[in-house]
Parts: sequence; C-alpha cells; structure tokens
Amino acid sequence: MILVTGGAGFIGGNFVLDWLLGHDLVSEPEEVLNLDKLTYAGNLATLEALKDNPRLQFVHGDIADQALVGQILQEHQPRAIIHFAAESHVDRSIHGPSEFIQTNIIGTFHLLEATRAYWSQLPGSDKGHFRFLHVSTDEVYGTLSATDAPFAETHAYEPNSPYAASKASSDHLVRAWHHTYGLPVLTTNCSNNYGPYHFPEKLIPLCILNALSGKPLPIYGDGQQVRDWLYVKDHCAAIRTVLETGVPGQTYNIGGWNEKANIEVVEQICQILDEIQPRADGKSYTLQMTFVKDRPGHDRRYAIDAAKIENELNWKPLETFETGIRKTIQWYLDNPQWVQGVVSGNYRQWIDLQYSTNK
Ligand code: NAD
Ligand code: TYD
Repeated sequence: MILVTGGAGFIGGNFVLDWLLGHDLVSEPEEVLNLDKLTYAGNLATLEALKDNPRLQFVHGDIADQALVGQILQEHQPRAIIHFAAESHVDRSIHGPSEFIQTNIIGTFHLLEATRAYWSQLPGSDKGHFRFLHVSTDEVYGTLSATDAPFAETHAYEPNSPYAASKASSDHLVRAWHHTYGLPVLTTNCSNNYGPYHFPEKLIPLCILNALSGKPLPIYGDGQQVRDWLYVKDHCAAIRTVLETGVPGQTYNIGGWNEKANIEVVEQICQILDEIQPRADGKSYTLQMTFVKDRPGHDRRYAIDAAKIENELNWKPLETFETGIRKTIQWYLDNPQWVQGVVSGNYRQWIDLQYSTNK
C-alpha cells in the first residue's frame, strides 16, 4: 500500500481518485491510506466516489504528529509515501505565514523523522524499494524576466513569498535526509495546476465561479504576470511516473509548456463561458474583469523546463491549456454540489459530525 498525505486537497484528491479509479491496470490498484488534517482546503467530498471503496482508508491527523505518523507506518507498512500535505495559497501566506512554517517546514521535518525510523528497520529489499516522494513547486526558484530561460532543476533557489520559502525549506530537508541518512527520496517541482476540485481561492476556479455568479473577476496589478499551467491529471501521471522510475535523490521539474499571462487566462475562461453558458443579458463575461491592487512581492513569470522528466522518464502532458481549461470549466458547471459544499462550509460541519469521535 501507499501512504498519501494531503489526499483530501486539490492535487492529492485527484491523485487518489486516479490511482484507485482511473487506472487501466489488469490487477487491482494498491491500497491507499490518506492522512489529512482537513484544514479549510481539505474536503472529503472530493473522494465521494471512493466512499465505499475498501482500498481507501482515511486517518484524520497532522503530519507534524510524529507519534501518530510512526504508528500509522508500523501498522500499515507502506512501500511509499507521496507527500502532498501543505498550506498552498500564496495570498494566505502573506496574511499569515505561521501555518506555512508549521505545516510545510516543521510538519515535513516530523514526517521525515517518522519515515526514517520506519524505513531504517525495514528488511533489505523493502528498504531498497521504499520511496518518499515530496511534491513541491516551481515557486522555490523565484521569478523570471520575459526573456529568461525556463526553470531547469539546476536553477538556484530564490523563493520570494512566505509560501515559496516554506516549500524551499522543505525541499532542502528532504534533500538532506537523502544525503545524510540515505532515505530514498524523490522531489518533484511542478508549475501551477488547474482542474477539477480546485479550491475557489485560486485564480482559475475563482474566476469561473465569480463569472457565473455575476461577481467581479479580480486581476492583480496589470495582469501581465505569466504562469505555466498544467492540467492536474497530467501532474498526477507525472508523479506516478517519478514514483515508479525516478532515481532516488533526484529532482524532476514538471510543467505543461503552457505559459500564459493571467489576463489571457481570464479572457479565455470568459470566452468559453460566453460560448457554453452565456450570460442572461447576452453580453460577454469579460465585462466582469476588474483590475485590483497587486499582490506584494508578486512574482512576474514562472516557466518550467520539463526536458529532464520527458527525456529520462518518458513523461509528457496529454492536455494543452485549450483542452484542459474546457474540461475544467465543464466540470465546475456539472458539479454545483461540490462547489456549494466548499463555499458554504457545509462540508466542514459534516466532517466535525462524522469525525468528532475520531479526533
Ligand atoms: P491544497 O491546499 O488544495 O491541499 C492541501 C491538503 O493538505 C488539504 O487536504 C489539507 O487538509 C492538507 N493538510 C494541510 N496541512 C496538513 C497537515 N499539517 N497535516 C495533514 N494534512 C494537512 O493543496 P494542493 O494545491 O493540492 O497542493 C498539494 C501539494 O502540491 C502542496 O505540497 C503544494 O505545495 C504542491 N503544489 C501545488 C501546486 C498547485 O498549483 N496547486 C503546484 C505545484 C506544487
Ligand atoms: P494563484 O492561483 O493564487 O497561484 P500562484 O500565486 O501560486 O501562482 O494565482 C495565479 C496568478 O493569478 C498569480 O499571478 C496571481 C494571480 N491572481 C489574480 O490576478 N487574481 C486573483 O484573484 C488571484 C487569486 C490570483
């Protein structure tokens, strides 16, 4: 079995769904144990399709609880850990960095220590095959000018936001646990994801939902900041590839070769909505676009050079931005209940009720 941390979040949730349902394996998929603290970003409704699936188990807990993690590892004996759990929103890290330090740095430290204790007593071949895959971000590399080459794995770490600094710190811990203790780690640094189950605090789902409810589409600064967008299921496929064929101690940059200015992204969302869900007054959703105050320290451009994972591990994204964004918009139109649960906070009440005896 595999242990997934943060499997009730956006990417972790998609990863668990694809692992257990989206596979084309001849045999049954390996079991998954999902360890998640269920912060505001964790939503078990994302895993609704697996509610009665015996191959998924859930533990409500914190990665920083080293005793709990140690106990889970002893009990379930996973052959790999895929570490998604994190505080992930840059704007929240600017308002309140403390949770980011706690989960992303201290939490990862405790997870690594519990993993080291478990891994070091595994028998020989299990020890060699064990993997700790750390899911990280391209934001650790800082910002690029319009003419700079995209981020390769050799790019210097220059994190600019509290979020990016906390992820950079966790990457360094993971690296050191390999270098010093020999823990078989893999690190992936991915560009901006989008797709189903994305929490509507992030640009793409926020704009889709605000457009549909007649609210402004807030564009920070001049809207010319560039991000390199990757459909979440392509990211999940890349993680599966790195898990099975990546070389321990190596890092792999993952990206979609889809650089877009924020304003282009929002315009494209508006154009697709104009076509498939026109406004009642027949006017374009672009009328709702509103320029607002810029984010402090806003990174200008991110771009990933994904040549290493493509050449060495034979992974390539399947979706272009055009195909992926259409699927994403359609998913939000088709899943108002999931959206309602997230925005109303109903799901949090349900979690408290369901797990109040399990805390
Ligand atoms: P998310 O915020 O949607 O989900 C995070 C999940 O982790 C939630 O389910 C939350 O409840 C859980 N969690 C938070 N703190 C925890 C703790 N202390 N213990 C246990 N669980 C905890 O995040 P996401 O967008 O799915 O990102 C997942 C990972 O991928 C993160 O490590 C992030 O840095 C990385 N990443 C994200 C993107 C992106 O575009 N979203 C891009 C590259 C890398
Ligand atoms: P976001 O989805 O928060 O991801 P990240 O900050 O990790 O890249 O933001 C993507 C881009 O969109 C980023 O340049 C900030 C910008 N943005 C807006 O212009 N308006 C918004 O309301 C949000 C949330 C983001």
